[in-house]
Amino acid sequence: MAMSRVAKLFVVFAIYCALDPFNHSSISKFPDFKTYKIDMPPLSALPKERDRDNLLQNSEIRFLNEVQGPESIAFDPLGRGPYTGVADGRILFWNGTRWTDFAYTSNNRSELCDTKPSLLDYLKDEHICGRPLGLRFDKRTGDLYIADAYFGIMKVGPEGGLATSLTTEADGVPLRFTNDLDVDDQGNVYFTDSSSVFQRRKFMLLIVSGEDSGRVLKYNPVTKETSTLLRNLQFPNGLSLGKDGSFFIFCEGSIGRLRKYWLKGEKAGTSEVVALLHGFPDNIRTNKDGDFWVAIHCHRNIFTHVMAHHPIVRRFFLKLPITVKFQYLLQVGGWPHAVAVKYSEEGKVLKVLEDKQGKVVKAVSEVEEKDGKLWMGSVLMSFIAVYDLP
Ligand SMILES: *[C@@H]1O[C@H](CO)[C@@H](O)[C@H](O)[C@H]1NC(C)=O
Ligand SMILES: *[C@@H]1O[C@H](CO)[C@@H](O)[C@H](O)[C@H]1NC(C)=O
Ligand SMILES: *[C@@H]1O[C@H](CO)[C@@H](O)[C@H](O)[C@H]1NC(C)=O
Repeated sequence: MAMSRVAKLFVVFAIYCALDPFNHSSISKFPDFKTYKIDMPPLSALPKERDRDNLLQNSEIRFLNEVQGPESIAFDPLGRGPYTGVADGRILFWNGTRWTDFAYTSNNRSELCDTKPSLLDYLKDEHICGRPLGLRFDKRTGDLYIADAYFGIMKVGPEGGLATSLTTEADGVPLRFTNDLDVDDQGNVYFTDSSSVFQRRKFMLLIVSGEDSGRVLKYNPVTKETSTLLRNLQFPNGLSLGKDGSFFIFCEGSIGRLRKYWLKGEKAGTSEVVALLHGFPDNIRTNKDGDFWVAIHCHRNIFTHVMAHHPIVRRFFLKLPITVKFQYLLQVGGWPHAVAVKYSEEGKVLKVLEDKQGKVVKAVSEVEEKDGKLWMGSVLMSFIAVYDLP
């Protein structure tokens, strides 16, 4: 079993080497590029729960080729949608009949942003076209809050159109890779900035580097100020408030764990690790019961584990003559597959759903539960997968 996976990796390695020789331009723009140790827990400490039935393979593929790289999925306060942010920088709305353009984040869109041959091709113009990641509706006002990877935290009214900027920096440090957010009932926005060094289009360098300039921040709508709640994080990613608003949980990407930050009560202002994850997490979303669905791009394996502890090995592999796609396979977690895990607010694993072979669903970015269905988006899929909960 283990051997066949290794064999598979080598075949893929050979194909990628043949197709697309390495291009040094990405790393050469960062002369000080360094790799850091990632203090990952031992493999034996990772959760043992698995989905032996590969239940995610029963998901329905919807909107095939109508949505490119849907990252976050949201429904408005009237239950309409989904709304999703796609690779070309638009936020689309499914009105029940068809997809319509709802909103966008860049005031400088042009033909540059139009459809491209593959999902990875969009990366190079994202800083011009925008890349909406986390989406959340304010249930009271119907405003949509957007974490745009390049333009920071933005907001657009229920009628859509060009979003307006709420914040682009904190403590004098610009937001560089705004990733996910949640909004409380006073309009405070809690959000993650995955790195102060690398933009999203350099995500591979961020992953390989393991650097710790990521932050968790808060935007206050009354003072219009942004404050830093936590700093020195390695690739903080998804963030979701608990049902009663007394805390939020966010994903620490590089290490692969969930951390809870208290907003109210005697622990207010402190945080604690509540769970170790199966692999590399993306977004986290609360369901109506107050449980949390965590979208996990891929499992940790022995190989990625060794890489985490040995920054020199990661750097060596980055310099190999291979493409971003293969770097991803190598450095993030092997064959693209899907894992969705439901946690209690105390960090207990409640349910694990997988597609181990990536036959139907791959590299899930978000799992949004609504009316007994899980809606799954991914920056690497050209569709939305919908799974019926039993
Ligand atoms: C490397 O990529 C840059 C831009 O991404 C391009 O201008 C250059 O021609 C490429 N070099 C090779 C050797 O493919
Ligand atoms: C959805 O949008 C299309 C095109 O704008 C429109 O023709 C259709 O009536 C809309 N459907 C609903 C249910 O609003
Ligand atoms: C607007 O986009 C063009 C490319 O389409 C780019 O050259 C220009 O720098 C952008 N302007 C601003 C202000 O970002």
